[in-house]
Amino acid sequence: MSEKRRLVVGVTGATGAVYAQRLLELVREAGGIETHLVISPPGVLTIKHELGMSRRDFQGLADEVHNFRDVGATLASGSFTTAGMVVAPCSVRTLAAVAHGFSDNLITRAADVTLKERRRLVLMLRETPLNLAHLRNMTAVTEMGGVIFPPLPAFYLHPQSIREMVDHSVSRVLDLLDIQVPVTRWEGMGAQP
Ligand SMILES: Cc1cc2nc3c(=O)[nH]c(=O)nc-3n(C[C@H](O)[C@H](O)[C@H](O)COP(=O)(O)O)c2cc1C
Repeated sequence: MSEKRRLVVGVTGATGAVYAQRLLELVREAGGIETHLVISPPGVLTIKHELGMSRRDFQGLADEVHNFRDVGATLASGSFTTAGMVVAPCSVRTLAAVAHGFSDNLITRAADVTLKERRRLVLMLRETPLNLAHLRNMTAVTEMGGVIFPPLPAFYLHPQSIREMVDHSVSRVLDLLDIQVPVTRWEGMGAQP
């Protein structure tokens, strides 16, 4: 019997809650993936502020929701198999915790588990400009096998809306997890004059 693949999604208090929103919506549309969502308290703030959504409505985008403080949840154990984890958006605070193995909440614990089980961890890190601590922490996570994926727009695709920019970044993240969603892909420049 084939089980649904599971994807862990952490939402932290960096700006860009829309990345998590579109990721969850696109994964649901794609089908065949069970999403497990954890939101940090600052993440709840940015969801409300940026999306005008209540925590309850946002949580409705996921298949299962876990409490941020519940380090005894399924996700806290490597025996709970997943296809990987995305933190979208990822704050530099959560980056620092992951880089130094601080499993002090369910997002950082699940990220730690993802790394120790050698599964795919993608951090949609959002901060600018970057200080040396941020850069060192990004290096540490990369050395452990994680992927640092700042959501930066691809202007060569001529996006016509913020939604298109967001969806492009999200679909590239999902590519890294082998989850295919419809996306505009670069097909070369063709015959340029
Ligand atoms: C509106 C708003 C925007 C923020 N944007 C960022 C950001 O882009 N990047 C970042 O690292 N922190 C940002 N922060 C600060 C984080 O929310 C804060 O450092 C928090 O402690 C992160 O905790 P968490 O990683 O557990 O969510 C923002 C906070 C607010 C209220």
